[in-house]
Amino acid sequence: MLRYVKKTLIFGVLLSGMACTSSPTGEEVAVECKVNELLEKMTLQEKIGQMNQVSPYGSDEDMLGLVKEGKVGSFLNITSPELVNRLQRTAVEESRLGIPLLMSRDVIHGYKTIFPIPLGQAATFNPDLVEAGARVAAVEASADGIRWTFAPMIDVSRDARWGRMAESCGEDPYLNAVMGVAMVKGFQGDSLNSPTSMAACAKHFAAYGAAEAGKDYNSTFIPERVMRNVYLPPFEAVAKAGCATFMTSFNDNDGVPSTGNRFLLKQVLRNEWGYDGMVVTDWASATEMVAHGFCKDRKEAAEKAVNAGVDMEMVSASFLENLETLVKENKVSEKVIDEAVRNILRLKFRLGLFEQPYIVTEQSVKYAPEHLAKAKETAEQSVILLKNEKEVLPLGSNVRTLAVVGPMADAPHDQMGTWVFDGEKAHTQTPLQALRSMYGDKVQILYEPGVAYSRDKRTEGIAKAVAVARRADAIVAFVGEEAILSGEAHSLADLNLRGAQQELVEALSRTGRPLVTVVMAGRPLTIGKQVKESDAVLYAFHPGTMGGPALANLLFGKSVPSGKTPVTFPRMTGQVPVYYAHHHTGRAPSGKETLIDDIPLEAGQTSLGCTSFYLDAGFGPLFPFGYGLSYTHFDYSRLKLSAEKLNQTDILTASVVLTNTGKYEGTEVVQLYVGDKVGSVTRPVKELKAFRRVSLKPGESQTVTFELPVSSLAFWNLKMKKVVEPGEFTLWIGTNSEEGLSAGFEVI
Ligand code: GLC
Repeated sequence: MLRYVKKTLIFGVLLSGMACTSSPTGEEVAVECKVNELLEKMTLQEKIGQMNQVSPYGSDEDMLGLVKEGKVGSFLNITSPELVNRLQRTAVEESRLGIPLLMSRDVIHGYKTIFPIPLGQAATFNPDLVEAGARVAAVEASADGIRWTFAPMIDVSRDARWGRMAESCGEDPYLNAVMGVAMVKGFQGDSLNSPTSMAACAKHFAAYGAAEAGKDYNSTFIPERVMRNVYLPPFEAVAKAGCATFMTSFNDNDGVPSTGNRFLLKQVLRNEWGYDGMVVTDWASATEMVAHGFCKDRKEAAEKAVNAGVDMEMVSASFLENLETLVKENKVSEKVIDEAVRNILRLKFRLGLFEQPYIVTEQSVKYAPEHLAKAKETAEQSVILLKNEKEVLPLGSNVRTLAVVGPMADAPHDQMGTWVFDGEKAHTQTPLQALRSMYGDKVQILYEPGVAYSRDKRTEGIAKAVAVARRADAIVAFVGEEAILSGEAHSLADLNLRGAQQELVEALSRTGRPLVTVVMAGRPLTIGKQVKESDAVLYAFHPGTMGGPALANLLFGKSVPSGKTPVTFPRMTGQVPVYYAHHHTGRAPSGKETLIDDIPLEAGQTSLGCTSFYLDAGFGPLFPFGYGLSYTHFDYSRLKLSAEKLNQTDILTASVVLTNTGKYEGTEVVQLYVGDKVGSVTRPVKELKAFRRVSLKPGESQTVTFELPVSSLAFWNLKMKKVVEPGEFTLWIGTNSEEGLSAGFEVI
């Protein structure tokens, strides 16, 4: 409603012809006024030029010429501050209307100071920390003139074969929404027109993470109800939070590529959500609609993309080539062009580019000590303790000699993970370096990689690693994935550790020495065998520049693990997609299933249990969503609900007493889930509705209270209406998606 009022107000002011300089009702009206004033001066060619985003090509002179002719609205991937200012000066001082350029880049999890990959940031369940990391990225990137980043990526990702899970905030819509909003706030800062603010970009709109078979760019087949209940909520959340731009996704959903999808770009984004930001295509995704077989040629691709609601075309230049003709042929109306250009100009005004087009941030902000400290804090909180038997961790004073082995112990490039264009490996602090510098005075560090890199199949080095391990009081094996094995276009059909890594861990396990396995990867890997062979396991989704000091502190107990799995860990690749918020089906497992090695010979057809499970993998995952241990232990007691029967407008208060029953101070991520027992359509067994990090000293207790509006239980039902259906619900509060105290309540 508010947005409608604002638009009416703006329209009223514009009608009155009030001069743009006076803004009786605030900045928004002034911006709208300036946008329309500028638009009226623009030729059709200049309007189309604003809709064109260019990637560096040819010589600087070539690009300067294009700018001078008013044929570019934005560049991506130019990071030389000198060239940025030169291009900007040409746009502002030498083009006819002096419209500034919008410089953009994929600043996904840090610019120079690299933070954990977004999947690792999600594992912190700490939106404040994630917001701070995005703020650091914006400050550093703006020093090179970048004022628009193509992040956050908030594609719900439930298939670990898909390499881009690394870039997402995991499998849960609510977690993606919370983390996406945090990143938008961090990138955009308190006001978009600050010179250190970057416009954020919600991507990839939409359902790109549901690529069939986890193969990147593949088709998706997501019906509208699942689209609205699972894949769109994070995008709606960031739209409401003021995310300045959206990016269309590569995939065709149910036959319609997102870049030509009016349902998504007009009906949902503009009409239902009232979004007034700017929509950009993904890299050449407009002309890729020809490859999709959705358009016969580039001209039709331009026509369908613009008429569907795209404002700016990334690099494929079909708008520049065809829109003037399409307008003349009445296939695209100039009104549609005007609306697209309004969205582009509005963003440039909001960014303050007309007032301050040139770079003002100092180069010295890059790798600033406080930035590195924030990256280390985030890396520490992103690491998940999956196993810790015989309290091997934290390593104590009994460890005088430590064997450090594995291909990821000293891998400065790969530790940063995917989507790193500007971070420099020379600044990475690896676990080996950190253990030597931070603990080398107390502990003798023996290092032998054993396997040179994650895909290295050679086993000759394993004997040396074993020899080193035999001389040590404990072993830490750093294994996982090189950065290139996750990210865009890097899907895997097999999630096992690669190369000779499995042989390495097995050989180390046979030494009988306490074995800690640390995994650095861009996705959950099927590490069940390594978990069995290790006494303790820490999982670090590519932890970034400061991953080494973070892991060193965790290993020696200077900090205590608090990360939780943002995705379900499969036992075998064949289980994928596997996620906690699945539906009941009619055949939920009974727990009495007969697994493959226990099946008697000539077993009768129906004798194994006719339920939804795998003979060779059972039903459940290796580790569920929201799972993570601590060096201490937390006890949940006294779950209380404020009411058993609630109306639609009520707020349910739920509380639990959390007690630290262990001997270390630690932080627990308390999670609240709700399951809708019966619906007009089948519902997920449970859905995450809230979480909170709670730090407690040994012996300390705290009552943790959540306020849950009944309205938050709404879903798109059989009639495709978003409602809360009366009926019975179950609420859980606990330590992960499988364990917790539960109670029932009813909505009447
Ligand atoms: C890529 C990605 C997108 C990125 C864009 C610009 O192909 O799909 O996430 O922002 O192109 O690099």
